Amino acid sequence: MATQSEKEPNRRDFLYVATGAVGAVGAAAVAWPLIDQMNPDASVLALASIEFDLSSVEVGQSVTIKWRGFPVFVRHRTEAEIEEARAVPLDALKDPETDAQRVKEGHEEWLIMIANCTHLGCVPVGESGEYDGWFCPCHGSHYDTAGRIRKGPAPKNLVVPEYEFLSDTVVQIG
Ligand code: FES
Repeated sequence: MATQSEKEPNRRDFLYVATGAVGAVGAAAVAWPLIDQMNPDASVLALASIEFDLSSVEVGQSVTIKWRGFPVFVRHRTEAEIEEARAVPLDALKDPETDAQRVKEGHEEWLIMIANCTHLGCVPVGESGEYDGWFCPCHGSHYDTAGRIRKGPAPKNLVVPEYEFLSDTVVQIG
């Protein structure tokens, strides 16, 4: 037969478990709205896409727009810039990508890239640097006319975001 001293720990255990369970439910009730907020549904993500009208960007010009908090370069490349990018052999590249991989077929004159250097995130300066593309003033990375890293500490090409042409003059980014 169990003695009183043997029963007491069991009661205490029950109280600990019961208290812990109530605490966990309470914590979940407090935390859930926060967790839910960090998990946006499809309609919120769709709002993160933007449409941009390219018709105001002349050949040889760039504009910088904002998308999801990132600066994005939209470059209307000249024929010379396109030819220069196509002429580069892949084995000359630190992060080998052809020019065609970085643009949309039929719209090769448009180059769209996240405007943060892949080294530490500075915004490179356009139409400058040794390779006629972009130059990052922070630590001296040079990108070519396809936004590919050619010299300096940046490890990767400027990132091309997801985008599609809705028409010849309107692009949807995201
Ligand atoms: Fe561009 Fe360092 S952030 S080279």
